[in-house]
Amino acid sequence: MNQTLAPPRRMLGRLRPPSDRSITVRAALLGALADGETRVRHPLDSDDAQAAMHCARALGAAVEFGEELVITGRGLRGLHAPAVPLHCDSSGTTMRLLAGLVAGLGFDCVIDGSPQLRRRPMRRISEPLTQMGARIGDVNGCAPLTLRAAALRGIDYSLPVASAQVKSAILLAGLNATGQTTTREPAPTRDHTERMLRAMGVDARTQGNTTTLTPPAALHAISLTAPGDFSSAAFFIVAGLLHPRADITLLDVGINPTRTGLLDALRMMGAAIAVENLSDEGGEPVAALRIQSTGLRGIEIAGDLTARMIDELPVLAVAATQARGVTVVRDAQELRVKESNRLEGLVAELRKLGAQIEATPDGFVVEGPTPLRGANVDGLGDHRMAMSLAAAALVATGETTLLGAECVAKTYPEFFADLERLMER
Ligand code: S3P
Repeated sequence: MNQTLAPPRRMLGRLRPPSDRSITVRAALLGALADGETRVRHPLDSDDAQAAMHCARALGAAVEFGEELVITGRGLRGLHAPAVPLHCDSSGTTMRLLAGLVAGLGFDCVIDGSPQLRRRPMRRISEPLTQMGARIGDVNGCAPLTLRAAALRGIDYSLPVASAQVKSAILLAGLNATGQTTTREPAPTRDHTERMLRAMGVDARTQGNTTTLTPPAALHAISLTAPGDFSSAAFFIVAGLLHPRADITLLDVGINPTRTGLLDALRMMGAAIAVENLSDEGGEPVAALRIQSTGLRGIEIAGDLTARMIDELPVLAVAATQARGVTVVRDAQELRVKESNRLEGLVAELRKLGAQIEATPDGFVVEGPTPLRGANVDGLGDHRMAMSLAAAALVATGETTLLGAECVAKTYPEFFADLERLMER
């Protein structure tokens, strides 16, 4: 599907972004291991969320999806071997967390996914899981993953890359291991797994970048409300700042500090973003964000800040094209192994719109401000690339045609309809 976009006269209104993908996926998988009914109000309905629910069902949990997501778990040792390979579609989070979850359950299974997911690196999880005693086969470090029944023991593992998925896979394997499991991260990453495990009664203690989990006797089912996904809100945050006549409010957005590096970066660039109605939903901070047009200036982003905005770097690159001066992003090599090679993709696609951007071995450099002009651009089958390019199109002169726009369904099926609601022509 191609989507044509042009700058609106104004951007105005209020909107709740779709619910958090990371939290919905975790609730489906952890809910399957819990005793009783785990309930999620406002679950995300997207390709990734459905992939996680499908796998939970295939392992024997009862999953009802509607206004509320209800997962009837089978207990820490009650799931059974799936009749067919567990298919994760294109959800890397589902695949990596699932590998940790099933590694110590005492049965064989195969975990597979789409051609896109089959290209993504899995040794980062099979290595630590193998150290724990898991028996995992892969194909050149990628899916399909073949797991054999094995008994696991806890490990103390220093992650070579900052990755919430790797950390989560190890902690989930630790649930069914003997002894404690400790993860040490090079930079803090999203901590939704730790928060949810604690809510389910697990002794999982975090100090700085280190988390230690003690295997529990059981996981208790919980009820939670999924907040709006900050990563989905990000496209409107940047579009609103860049558009010269914008005033938009994003409601119910999860602002867990491990996710909101983009807010800090944009503030360093000069943006005034108001955080209103701060509250707490199921152990996660939530707020409304008010965005108004702002002139930005270039900055340098590296280290922990890069890790806290890893999924928002594509849209940050769009913001940087309109900022005065140079923006440098470092420590972002991980962008090469996301749904697409985002470093190469950003350079290729944003240049078509007139941006001055270059890739470096571990990030990119953007010089601004440059006037953008409409062109044909490609989402490269990557939801975040497609939505970032859509945000760029709103400040480009003339029309932009986004090729392969359907990939937004991975996390945000209603993206173009929501965007339309905020645009005044
Ligand atoms: C996610 C972790 C991050 C992120 C991804 C979602 C998660 O991946 O990029 O979109 O829900 O745990 P990595 O663990 O590969 O950094």
